[in-house]
Amino acid sequence: MKPILVTGALGQIGTELVPALRERHGPEAVIATDLRMPPDAPEGPFAHVDVTRQNQISEVVRRYDVGSIYHLAALLSALAEDKPQFAWDLNMGGLYRVLEVARQYDCAVFNPSSIGAFGHTTPRERTPQDTIQRPSTMYGVTKVAGELLCDYYAQRFGVDSRGLRLPGIISYVAPPGGGTTDYAVDIFHQAVRYRHYTCFLGPETRLDMMYMPDTVAAIMQLMEADANNLSHRNAFNVSAMSITPEELAAEIRKHIPDFVIDYDIDPVRQAIADSWPRSLDVSVARADWEFEPRYDLAAMTADMLEQLGRRLTPAK
Ligand code: SER
Repeated sequence: MKPILVTGALGQIGTELVPALRERHGPEAVIATDLRMPPDAPEGPFAHVDVTRQNQISEVVRRYDVGSIYHLAALLSALAEDKPQFAWDLNMGGLYRVLEVARQYDCAVFNPSSIGAFGHTTPRERTPQDTIQRPSTMYGVTKVAGELLCDYYAQRFGVDSRGLRLPGIISYVAPPGGGTTDYAVDIFHQAVRYRHYTCFLGPETRLDMMYMPDTVAAIMQLMEADANNLSHRNAFNVSAMSITPEELAAEIRKHIPDFVIDYDIDPVRQAIADSWPRSLDVSVARADWEFEPRYDLAAMTADMLEQLGRRLTPAK
């Protein structure tokens, strides 16, 4: 197998996807790239790449004879709403250049889409795989346009592009940054340290979530799936749980009985969340490539608290 290039390798997903890919394919077979430099000595090849500079991507692809690009570098929803022009340049400009390099050097592409690719006019319960996609955020606009662009490169140029519509991703190694679903990560850190969390989304805000081990497994499974079995390319609905802040707090309370949640709603992020599905129908991912997440709310919460309990010191 030819080497894999990962963009945005130091972000929330890249931080855990890169080691998983290295474990499977060998440390030298995965080229981690990011705009930032890694804080510690990397365990395999690392290159500085700005995804808005096509020559920087193609230089690394040529040097390592890369066969697939996992393109994770992008702004999340709340940050993109704050800086819409920059979000368009980075999210669309980066993806377009990755696809162009993939076309020229015959690489496969993984591109994450999101629950943000849906909007107010989308059915919100059991949101189907194929449905209305008219998002009202810049993040959503770049995600829908990205899905279409990836499908276009597949049909027109034969680029093997594949994607997932990711829900909020819960993890303990690297933080997300600037997303609407970030509360579901912050809550664990605050619960372990302070037994108290002030949530920026309202108590009944129901959104899809998935734990990082299931996310990493799903990405690898999709990219290894036989193309003949895929009825869709960009992008598959995936999710492991559909939860509210109140339900997550109740689950945490089973482990930390005096945990308290209160609410100070951020109108921008609340409006974004209110435009997204409350639960996704993931049956097409199950049928096409056997998507089967292992962590539900209870299993994820128990593991998050155990892992963070080892890493964080409770405040006095
Ligand atoms: N986690 C993302 C966000 O909140 C959703 O794709 O922006």
